[in-house]
Amino acid sequence: MITPQSETVLEFPAIWLRDNCGCTSCRDPQSSQKLQRITDLPEDLEIVDLEYSDAEVVVTFSPDGHRSVFALDWLTSQLSWRSDGDRSERHKTLWRAEDLEDDAQHAQWSTYRRDDDVRLAVLPGIEQLGFAVLHGTPVDEGTVLTIARTFGFVRVTNYGELFDVRIEANPSNLAFTGAVISPHTDNPYRDPVPTMQLLHCLANDVIGGESGLVDGFQASSILRDEYPHFFEVLTETPVSFAWSDASNVLRAKRPMIELDSIGRIRAVRFNNRSLQPLRMNTARIGEYYDAYRAFAQIIDRPELLLTFRLDSGDCLIFDNTRILHARTAFEETSTGKRHLQGCYADLDGLASTVAVLERDKYYELSET
Ligand code: OGA
Ligand code: ZN
Ligand code: ZN
Repeated sequence: MITPQSETVLEFPAIWLRDNCGCTSCRDPQSSQKLQRITDLPEDLEIVDLEYSDAEVVVTFSPDGHRSVFALDWLTSQLSWRSDGDRSERHKTLWRAEDLEDDAQHAQWSTYRRDDDVRLAVLPGIEQLGFAVLHGTPVDEGTVLTIARTFGFVRVTNYGELFDVRIEANPSNLAFTGAVISPHTDNPYRDPVPTMQLLHCLANDVIGGESGLVDGFQASSILRDEYPHFFEVLTETPVSFAWSDASNVLRAKRPMIELDSIGRIRAVRFNNRSLQPLRMNTARIGEYYDAYRAFAQIIDRPELLLTFRLDSGDCLIFDNTRILHARTAFEETSTGKRHLQGCYADLDGLASTVAVLERDKYYELSET
C-alpha cells in the first residue's frame, strides 16, 4: 500500500487491517471495544480495492465486500515501535549510583500535586529509572495512601492497606526491628508480586536508618556480562520464597531473575530473609549457591548503591520488580524515633496515569 502524499510504503496484511477495522459493525461505538472474534473473520480474506483521499484510505475486502476506513496518520503511527507496556530492560535506563544527578527523581510534593508537567517528569522517570523521592509531603499517618492514589491503585496485602515500619515488640518481619536490612525486593513470596512500593517517612530522628537503592536490572546485566553461566542458573531455576504469621502462609516459586519471552530481563526477586530451602537435584545445589552468591556480591558493590536519608515528609516510590531497597541499622533514643508507613501499588496503574497525562498534554498542544 502506498500513501499518495509521502510515497512511504505502508505494508499491512489483510487480516491485520480487517481485525483493526473501526466501523460500527466491528467496534462498539461507545467503548471502542472490538465486537468480532478472530473466528468471525474470513480465513481467505484479501484486499480487492484501495481508495485514497487526502487523509484516509478505504479498504475493500473479499470475500464479503466489507469496507474499512483508516486514517493514514493512524496507520503510520502503527509502524513506530513503542514500548507498548514492555517492562523489560529494553525500555529502561540502567544505572549505577554515580550515573544519577543529585536531584534526579527528586520533586516537591506541592508542585507535583499541582502541576501536570512535574508529574509528567516524575512518573515516567519511575518507569525509566525505577524510583522517585517526593519531599514536603504531609507528616500525617495515612499520607502514603494519598500519594499512591496520585498515580495508581493501592494494593491491599496481608499487611493491610498500609503497614507501619518501626520497632515492634514482637516483630513478624526484620523490617519491624532496628536491624540492618540488606538490599531486597519486597514480598517475593507473593505471586503476582506487588510491583510498586512506597515508603513514607513520618519520623527518622535516630542514629543510622539511612536508605539505599540498587538497580536490580543493572546488577543482573553485570552478572550476565561477567558470569553468563550463573545468569543462566538464576534465570532458569525457580526457587521458593515464603512468609507466614498466625493468619497467613504465603509462598511463591519463581526464578530470582525473570526474563521475557525473548530473553530480556523483566523482573528481579531478591530477598535473603524469605528464601526457602532449595529443593533441586543435590548436584545442582552447590552451583545454585555459587550463582546466588555471585549475584549478591554484585548487588553489594558500593558503586551500585545509591544512598540517602529519608526525613520526615519524604516519600520513596519505587518499582519493586527492579529496584532493591535497603536500610542501615538504627538505634532509637528516648526522644528519637524512626517511623515509616509503607504501601504497595502496581506498575500498570502508573503506566495508565502516564498515558493519560501524555494524552491530555497532546490534546492541549494540538488545540493551541
Ligand atoms: C520494608 C523495608 C526499609 C526501611 O519495610 O520493606 O525494607 O527503610 N524497610 O525501614
Ligand atoms: Zn468493519
Ligand atoms: Zn522492604
